[in-house]
Amino acid sequence: MSHSKIWLSSPHMGGTEQHYIQEAFDANWLAPLGSNVNGFEKDLENYLGNEVHVGALSLGTAAIHLGLILLGVQAGDAVICQTMTFSASANPILYLGASPVFVDSETNTWGLCPQALEQAIQDNIQKGKKPKAIIAVHLFGVPYQVAAIRKVASTYQIPVLEDAASALGSSYKDQKCGTFGDISILSFNGNKIITTSGGGAIVTHTAALK
Ligand SMILES: Cc1ncc(COP(=O)(O)O)c(C=O)c1O
Repeated sequence: MSHSKIWLSSPHMGGTEQHYIQEAFDANWLAPLGSNVNGFEKDLENYLGNEVHVGALSLGTAAIHLGLILLGVQAGDAVICQTMTFSASANPILYLGASPVFVDSETNTWGLCPQALEQAIQDNIQKGKKPKAIIAVHLFGVPYQVAAIRKVASTYQIPVLEDAASALGSSYKDQKCGTFGDISILSFNGNKIITTSGGGAIVTHTAALK
């Protein structure tokens, strides 16, 4: 039996990293804001298309936290989140004093099951607690059933926070993941598609929200 490790995501260097690190030292620009971050946000906007606005943040988790605030989630609210995901999808719900309503994933994409989602919304409405937001995750970069989830969300007029933490580079029907939510988020954690060691971004469709 082999005991060699299969790494989850060992970083791949493109060759220009040292150059840019040296450039930052030479310019003495070691701040977390400035032309590099502005350029990074612009590159992401150009890549994602669909006229989105991107704001770089310290973490994908911070982007979910901020996104929920922008969607008006407050203490006591219910927020839907899928069961199978990294805990960071759900933690910010608790940071706000809201309650996660966990909904099962389906077996094709491992994303939020549209039928279970609708059932959970109806159950919560019956209890007098219409969910304030739906967090849908493209788990391991596999797009969830975007059209079906959007249809349910629109029927009940509940905004979708699209967790595209691990889906930069994925697309659904020729549209890039990270552009489907009322608010979307990306992560640049060490195990993600591109990494800043730690980092994240919020993606919105209006500059005012960004
Ligand atoms: C699905 C998912 N959502 C959110 C996050 C949180 O991102 P971050 O680690 O940048 O806070 C991660 C990963 O780390 C993730 O895999």
